[in-house]
Amino acid sequence: MSKIPVWAKLSPNITDLSFLAFSCLQGGADGITAINTMKGYAGIDIESLQPNLNVGGLSTYGGFSGNIIKPFALKSVSEIAIDHDCYISATGGISKWQDAVEFMLLGASSFQICTEVMLNGYNIINPLVKGLESYLERHSHTSLDCLIGTGLKKIDGYSKLDKNIKYQANIDNESCLKCGKCFISCTDGGYQAINKEKNKTYSVNPDKCAGCGLCQHVCPSNSISMISQKSLSAKN
Ligand SMILES: Cc1cc2nc3c(=O)[nH]c(=O)nc-3n(C[C@H](O)[C@H](O)[C@H](O)COP(=O)(O)O)c2cc1C
Ligand code: SF4
Ligand code: SF4
Repeated sequence: MSKIPVWAKLSPNITDLSFLAFSCLQGGADGITAINTMKGYAGIDIESLQPNLNVGGLSTYGGFSGNIIKPFALKSVSEIAIDHDCYISATGGISKWQDAVEFMLLGASSFQICTEVMLNGYNIINPLVKGLESYLERHSHTSLDCLIGTGLKKIDGYSKLDKNIKYQANIDNESCLKCGKCFISCTDGGYQAINKEKNKTYSVNPDKCAGCGLCQHVCPSNSISMISQKSLSAKN
């Protein structure tokens, strides 16, 4: 029996990470670290037909880390936090203080950084600590503990989402750059709900808009907001 605390570090390369956490906690783990790297394939050079990750002409599946795995790490940490009352140390795509705050809001009590330090060195740590301090001050929190898990109440199953709430895109023509990206996305990938006027202004047809948010995602100037039907009717 170990006299020092043992935290089990979980690989995300399985179906149910929360069940794995359960098994570790049942087996005596003092806490959980999530997540390790995610398996992937680094690609193939389409001209030489050589694998990008090349060891004497042969390749294998590798572990991916950094920003690309952050959404999966957020899901894993929050699922474990919802299912189990345990300490969680978050890792997976944390590169700045805002990422760390997100993980703590979703149940982590500490966090670890690997890839970002490998890319940019220990110099990232001071700005990260300063950012956390000013965030706590701005929100009148006395310590990071105030954050842990407070965002979990905003997560539920898909079936629990209110299907009656409808969102509708709204374009602010003042800040619009008239680039037309929203028009292309909505026309070719969405619902053909954006009208292009002769003077290159864009407007949303409320009858066609499905509230998918694609236009907002592609807009380079944050000129599109999604307004819920509730607030639309409150405005009228
Ligand atoms: C080059 C490299 C080597 C790693 N070696 C280990 C290791 O030996 N043991 C381990 O538990 N995790 C290892 N990891 C995983 C990291 O500790 C971390 O869990 C993962 O990379 C996600 O965090 P990040 O996005 O901050 O890198 C390694 C990651 C990288 C990129
Ligand atoms: S929210 Fe979707 S459907 Fe509505 S305008 Fe934007 S892209 Fe089109
Ligand atoms: S994507 Fe944004 S900036 Fe471009 S036309 Fe649409 S609203 Fe304007």
